[in-house]
Amino acid sequence: MPGTRRPGPRGIRETIRFYRDFADDAPGALLRLRQRYGDVCFVGGRGAAGAVFLLGAAANEFVFRNSGVLTWRGGYQSLLPVSGDTALLVSDGPGHDGRRAVTQPAFTGRRVEDYLSIMIRNVGELVAGWRVGQEIDVYREFRSVIRGTVVEALFGTGLAADSEPIGRDLQPALDVLNASLPAQLLTWAVPSPRRRRARAGLARVDARIAAEVADRRHRTEPPDDLLSMLLAANGAYGLDDRGLRDAVVSLVVASFDTTSAALAWAVHAALSHDAVWSRIRAEVAEVVGAGPLTAAQARRLRYTRWVVDETLRLHPPAVVGARGCTAELEFAGHRIPAGSTVVFSEYVAHTDPRVWSDPMRFRPQRWDRSDPAYDEVGTFDYIPFGAGPRRCIGSALATGELVVTLAQLARLFELRLCVPQARPAGMTAVYPRDGMSVRIVATHADSGAGAIPPDTENTRAIPPEQEKKR
Ligand code: HEM
Repeated sequence: MPGTRRPGPRGIRETIRFYRDFADDAPGALLRLRQRYGDVCFVGGRGAAGAVFLLGAAANEFVFRNSGVLTWRGGYQSLLPVSGDTALLVSDGPGHDGRRAVTQPAFTGRRVEDYLSIMIRNVGELVAGWRVGQEIDVYREFRSVIRGTVVEALFGTGLAADSEPIGRDLQPALDVLNASLPAQLLTWAVPSPRRRRARAGLARVDARIAAEVADRRHRTEPPDDLLSMLLAANGAYGLDDRGLRDAVVSLVVASFDTTSAALAWAVHAALSHDAVWSRIRAEVAEVVGAGPLTAAQARRLRYTRWVVDETLRLHPPAVVGARGCTAELEFAGHRIPAGSTVVFSEYVAHTDPRVWSDPMRFRPQRWDRSDPAYDEVGTFDYIPFGAGPRRCIGSALATGELVVTLAQLARLFELRLCVPQARPAGMTAVYPRDGMSVRIVATHADSGAGAIPPDTENTRAIPPEQEKKR
């Protein structure tokens, strides 16, 4: 009978041990959970106290097809103290849909291309000061560049001038969100220096945003950006002063925390696998020639894009997503009670040996549709940005930023990793625990065209038993 056997950690001790493991190494903990208990795991108590982990591509499909019953608000309650009530990720229903419709026009292809031009300029300014022999933490440096780019692109140069203090003020709250779920709940519930710091930082950010909004309201010719689009809604869909604040804070947080983590993993993967860096460099030379890289050229950097896609497969910054279950459901013979939190995992699906051949191997070439070994990727096998009508609004911006940044770095520098074994940390965006330090071993003053070398990282044949089963 469905629902009688509840696989998962037993009792309070095993549950705490799992959540500790999860906070310490989220991707590894998820694989261990699935290995031990299978695709459905019950963690914690029954009802609202418990979470049901639904793991694998079929589970992803189940979650996204049941969006009417599984709410984003119920899954992302823990983000509310930072994002506010009306942020897209934590809201549902007509309010969400109205705000998404107001926000979406800021992410058309043409606008994203404009944003990528800002990114290219900002990366250029950062690396202009880099010298041979220097050690650079690319994770830390690019957090700042990516945040500055997004703030300028979406909310204008006024707020972008404050991007550094905004980043500093957001950090204590982001640190809370990256702790284990029980630790997060405790931090927000009980007074402590940690909570005071997080709240004080958020209050300063809110004040900056309020000042910018007030300034915009007095302008006769407001800039053509997302903040102006949100203001033009005139308070509809909850976009009053509080709603404007929630939109700005949540978009800034959602964009730079994730994209900078992905960039660090991409640099690590590209430098630790044979010939990937030099292939990116050769591709840039071929597409760009001797002139400066432009945003329009980014679309033609196919190999660099595969490196990004493969990075987001093996190192998706969002390793899990969550939903609140509002009515009883059944999956794979297990009853999921109303009131429970459903957790699904991007990472588990991306590394599922039932779906991917040689799943733990970094192989950008697997994204080449013209490769005889190419396997069609199912909608729910690969979801670094979620799926369906609520797919990440910034996916094109994020992938574009990653492509142009890798292209600029590989074009200009030979880098060596100072952190050969990068360990993951964090929950909301899984990032490299010790940063991502690289040493500059050479610069390419002349970045002219060159032939793309053979793809030496992709020469091993796939053994038949590891072929994708479809
Ligand atoms: C590599 C970078 C990024 C990753 C991995 C990522 C990942 C995701 C994922 C997995 C979701 C869906 C969550 C779910 O369905 O439970 C999502 C939603 C969202 N993302 Fe991203 N994201 C990235 C960059 C960005 C950027 C650059 C922005 C904005 C500038 C952004 C804004 C949003 C918003 C607003 C949502 C909620 C959309 C809605 O519910 O309507 N993200 N993101």
